[in-house]
Amino acid sequence: MVVNNLGFVETFLRKKNKGDRQVYADLKLAVTPVHVACIMDGNGRWAKAKGLPRAAGHREGMERVKDIVRMSSDIGIQVLTLYAFSTENWKRPKSEVGVLMNLLVEYLRSELDELHKENVKLFTLGDISRLPEMALKEVEAAKEKTKNNTGMILNIALNYGSRLEITQAVQKIASQVKNGKIKAEDISETTVSDYLYTAGQPDPDLVIRTSGEERISNFLLYQIAYAEFIFVKEAWPDFTFDRYRDALMIYQNRHRRFGGL
Ligand code: FPP
Repeated sequence: MVVNNLGFVETFLRKKNKGDRQVYADLKLAVTPVHVACIMDGNGRWAKAKGLPRAAGHREGMERVKDIVRMSSDIGIQVLTLYAFSTENWKRPKSEVGVLMNLLVEYLRSELDELHKENVKLFTLGDISRLPEMALKEVEAAKEKTKNNTGMILNIALNYGSRLEITQAVQKIASQVKNGKIKAEDISETTVSDYLYTAGQPDPDLVIRTSGEERISNFLLYQIAYAEFIFVKEAWPDFTFDRYRDALMIYQNRHRRFGGL
């Protein structure tokens, strides 16, 4: 263990075996983000650089999803949000959309029992009604099975777009005003939050985007007002637990002021 000159505790992450799985509980942070949100970017470029089809990048990306979910739950992150499929991603070739949907199904089939055992609650952000039937069925079943879990919330953003989310929130609030259920002057920031997919959840403290791109891409625009951003150069398939640990260490050394001094 190292205590640095700011008094933060740094311990070096070690993987340990616990039964048949690896745990990452050794990461002790003085300041742990409550909600981490990840823009998982760079699967395609990762594959191209290796002369592999894009699907191979997405498959390796799924392996990192497994790792990052496990590690987040082990170290006590309360909410982890993963941007898996945006409203714009439907513009990709049908075959690639199919690969992504199949990986989602594969992920849920292989991980659901462990997620449930670890008390993780699976939730989705976005309009999932547009997902192919098999993916929708699997997602609904996973949400149902884990709905009473009290551990980490795993938000998977699927057919998600933040502007659409905010627009729909405005429409719903407007109709409540029209029906006399809310007075226009009583609409507060909390009212708006309450009509977003993330209603009731804490806002992200940390947004991580992989692959060197530095933009937000229509992700949680309302919720990230005070989030810290970390852009890492590695593509998502290379975002291993030690890179995640590095990002968390950077986060704990940031000084968040929330607009104050
Ligand atoms: C961005 O990389 C990534 C996506 C659009 C999808 C993310 C999907 C996964 C990580 C796979 C499985 C997910 C789950 C939840 C099981 P890109 O294809 O845009 O990469 P590029 O910019 O290099 O082309």
